[in-house]
Amino acid sequence: MPGSSTPSSEALPAHVAVIMDGNGRWAKARGLSRSEGHRAGLEATRRAVRFFAEQGVGTLTLFAFSSENWARPRDEVEALFELFVSAIEAELPELVERGIALTFIGDRANFPQDLQTRMTDAEQTSAGNEHMHLVVALGYGGRWDILQAARRWVASGEEGPDPETTFSGYLSTAGLPDVDLLIRTGGECRISNFLLWQSAYAELLFIDPFWPDVSTVELQEGLAWYARRQRRFGRVIASGAGPEPGEVSSA
Ligand code: IPE
Ligand code: IPE
Ligand code: MG
Repeated sequence: MPGSSTPSSEALPAHVAVIMDGNGRWAKARGLSRSEGHRAGLEATRRAVRFFAEQGVGTLTLFAFSSENWARPRDEVEALFELFVSAIEAELPELVERGIALTFIGDRANFPQDLQTRMTDAEQTSAGNEHMHLVVALGYGGRWDILQAARRWVASGEEGPDPETTFSGYLSTAGLPDVDLLIRTGGECRISNFLLWQSAYAELLFIDPFWPDVSTVELQEGLAWYARRQRRFGRVIASGAGPEPGEVSSA
């Protein structure tokens, strides 16, 4: 892909994206409500943010509520919104202390007003922090993102010498690197309309544990797994420069 992805032997992903799945099944296995599963998921989220920030990952994008999750029962959706409001309030001071900038991607127009206000406040309060960029996808869908970008791109009339890079600038992730490592927990092997354009060349890691059970051990294993990938971006790697295609790099 012009402009955004070049072969790299970097062992640490610049951009990690996580589909935090399995809260409901985690709760069900314990005879708890789905909302209690989401609360337990928040603990795992806190662990993951700390972990990736300490590892030096520059951008972390977390999928917390999809466009399609609006179709869930009203009480679950409302409980999630309440959880997001209280989580933003509770977590913001530590994020700022750690030098983390928090932004949100997705269509927030139909969110409750108090949630929208908290989101905007958190973005403003943490703006300019440079240790890590934490992006939380709320009301997010990859197709929504591509469509809103396409509308604005067409309206701009701007093609540019490198249209893919120009178009990327209209996505909700403008300015961020493409996803290097995409992790989905909870055992399902699908993208579920997450960062479709941005994950074009991501390494995809699907792991079984439900999100509330994910500890730094699994996350560390994920980074180690990523470091062993040989990323070719469609090219042929010269012999002697690393493992043959199909082999796993020992790097
Ligand atoms: C992911 O967990 C969190 C959200 C989608 C909000 P789920 O709620 O999808 O949990 P499962 O997949 O039903 O176990
Ligand atoms: C994806 O999980 C969305 C989030 C983790 C926020 P889902 O549980 O909504 O995805 P499906 O329905 O299993 O594809
Ligand atoms: Mg799920």
